[in-house]
Amino acid sequence: MTDPNRFLPLFRPLQAGGLKLRNRFMRSATWLAGADPRTGALTEGLLGRYAELAAGGVGLVVTGYGYISRDGKSAPRQWALDGDGAVGDVRRIADVVHGGGAKVMVQIVHGGGWRHPSAVGAGRLLSPSGGALDRKAALSERLTEADIDQVIADFAAAAARVREGGADGVQIHGAHGFLLTQFLSPLHNRRDDDWGRSFEGRSKLFFSVYDAVRSAVGKDFPLWFKLSLSEEVDGGYGPEEGLRLALRLAETGVDGIEVSGGAGYSTAERAACRIGVTRGESEAYFAESARALRAQAPERCAVALVGGLRSLEKMTELLEGGICDLFAMSRPFIAEPDLVNRWFEEDLVPSGCVSCNACFKTAERGLIDCPVMRDKHEGMWDPLPES
Ligand SMILES: Cc1cc2nc3c(=O)[nH]c(=O)nc-3n(C[C@H](O)[C@H](O)[C@H](O)COP(=O)(O)O)c2cc1C
Ligand code: SF4
Repeated sequence: MTDPNRFLPLFRPLQAGGLKLRNRFMRSATWLAGADPRTGALTEGLLGRYAELAAGGVGLVVTGYGYISRDGKSAPRQWALDGDGAVGDVRRIADVVHGGGAKVMVQIVHGGGWRHPSAVGAGRLLSPSGGALDRKAALSERLTEADIDQVIADFAAAAARVREGGADGVQIHGAHGFLLTQFLSPLHNRRDDDWGRSFEGRSKLFFSVYDAVRSAVGKDFPLWFKLSLSEEVDGGYGPEEGLRLALRLAETGVDGIEVSGGAGYSTAERAACRIGVTRGESEAYFAESARALRAQAPERCAVALVGGLRSLEKMTELLEGGICDLFAMSRPFIAEPDLVNRWFEEDLVPSGCVSCNACFKTAERGLIDCPVMRDKHEGMWDPLPES
């Protein structure tokens, strides 16, 4: 039998990525479809979810992706960071998360040419080269030089709001097929100007956004990126270019990188939110990318891993192997917002999340939740056999 003391290093305080955290657990950014459908303002229901998460013991909460402009909106009931009214929303979230003893980082995004069809009130659909990103996507316009300047300015303005509202850090969403990923992608970036052509051109926007955001928030404010280290689509960028970008960002001064993979247009087996993850072999499906990054990035840049983390055994093995510093989870905290406290105070059983992705479907009702756990609590659930 495993000695439970072996898991204690996961629960000890640490300093990482410019943040002092009570443990190594991180709630990865999760759109809960709880903002006002028209204005994108924070609602009481969504605020309650942040309070619940922080009270549940997690060390670092990353908010769901906040759009930096109407053009950058990608999802229904997505949170808005495109106006100065957002400063008050950030403050309310920071207050409840700090009240629960956790730290909070706000994720900011431009969705580019990738948008959910029912995202009401969104602006122009823009992408590096125009056209449709895949068979299901709508036609987008090619960004002009002026559009690119505007995107950079919008990222900086949103980040300034995050700092002013009292959050502990800002995370730029450079993963999952949104605008920054689209620029890095040789599949979607067919530009023949300085923003395309070569790896240097395709990655330029990441550094321009970094510079502008850094100027807006100052050198001491934690500035992280979430990156797909591989686009996971035929013709897209692979792990070599993903790692090269991550290392350059780390050397440029980024405080932390959350390692993910895939894009909204990847197939289910290659997606960021894979289905059918079970404890053991299928856990931690982006661990090899994190291993490569942690081995070469400067120590000062924290490396977090996300994607199918479910058990303390796996996370301890990864920590002992020096694969990453922090362990980020999304679906496990939808299923059990108090997961960290449960592990610390009650039992060591892996997350009850069965990685079925049924939670996405609940967005239509207003605020995402976990139907599997709800059925379990209501006595209507047949546990899956343990693998
Ligand atoms: C309902 C839902 C909403 C998500 N929203 C975001 C988001 O706003 N930003 C982001 O970077 N990733 C988002 N993700 C992806 C997760 O952060 C994470 O990368 C992915 O689910 C894999 O981790 P997991 O296996 O712990 O769920 C979302 C995932 C889910 C299930
Ligand atoms: S519905 Fe529940 S069990 Fe299924 S993936 Fe979502 S959180 Fe996990």
